[in-house]
Amino acid sequence: AGEGQGQSEGQGQGQGCEGEVKSAGNFKVCVCGGAGGIGQPLSMLMALDPNVKELCVFDLSVAMVPPAGVAADLGHLERKSEVKGYVMEVGQKPIDNLKECLTGCDLVLVPAGMPRKPGMTRDDLFKVNADIAKGIVEACAKFCPDAVLGLVVNPVNSIVPAMAELYKKKGLDPLKIVGVTTLDVVRANKFCGEIMNKNPNYINVPVVGGHAGTTILPLFSQDKVAKLIPEDKIPDLDKHVQDAGTDVVNAKSGKGSATLSMAYAGARLGRSVLAGLMGKKRTECAYVKSDITDLPYFASKVQFGEKGVSKVLPIGELNEYETKRMEEVKAQLKGEIETGLKYAED
Ligand code: LMR
Repeated sequence: AGEGQGQSEGQGQGQGCEGEVKSAGNFKVCVCGGAGGIGQPLSMLMALDPNVKELCVFDLSVAMVPPAGVAADLGHLERKSEVKGYVMEVGQKPIDNLKECLTGCDLVLVPAGMPRKPGMTRDDLFKVNADIAKGIVEACAKFCPDAVLGLVVNPVNSIVPAMAELYKKKGLDPLKIVGVTTLDVVRANKFCGEIMNKNPNYINVPVVGGHAGTTILPLFSQDKVAKLIPEDKIPDLDKHVQDAGTDVVNAKSGKGSATLSMAYAGARLGRSVLAGLMGKKRTECAYVKSDITDLPYFASKVQFGEKGVSKVLPIGELNEYETKRMEEVKAQLKGEIETGLKYAED
């Protein structure tokens, strides 16, 4: 385990006025892909968040339903959030269309791109999804460069490095680009709760590495309930967490991947980001630019503060099983990061 990466609190740019911390209930959030399978429930959960003042639902005109419809629907919830819909035709560029939608955003959640079908790996989605993410990220760089971007775009392991490097090239803070891996934590907690017959609400297993196959490494030894799981059960449980996304893809028989649990997980991260922005520091696992290992991008516990990511926390102590698995994680993740870095170079 390496040392915590300290991005000093003074680094990066402020929200709105330099140095100003936004007060509770005053945030503007956008969900890009907000009329899709993940986007609709994610928009709903964010509309329910008392910290959200304005929620923008953006999607393409070919989405499941018109974004204006999602906005009208969510606009009837008895919450203070004002919900607006923004639509774009296929082939148009977000940078030419999203000025009003993105300007002033504090948090942009991006559940965009194609989902897997049975038999596909997340890697198979790289080219098509990287181009989709790039369009949105370029628009964010222009209209809301201080916002935190939560990317729910697969393969997260390659897309996040690609997009963070694009931010770097523009002179922006690459730590604004956050890969959402919260669902791996949610799954590890749930499966651990099932085995131990405990409420998963009181379990918090850090999941480090990345968000695909063997790169997903749950650290059961670091949670007070999970560390009591009999040793011989750990390999299967570890595999269960690694394969959970594929299990949902197979169960949906070609009709998509995890949407509801992913929305739940994305909203958990989103709420923590907003809490951090208003000065209440929160810790969540996320996949970000990192120097806690010898890889330049890594999922680990991350502290969210007044400017977004305020600290990338060290991995902590690993047991023998986890130490061995870490080698496997790094071997696979290395190549997937390189795919992303190469995309950013081209
Ligand atoms: C998941 O973990 O459920 C998502 O990454 C979707 C997928 O393709 O598995």
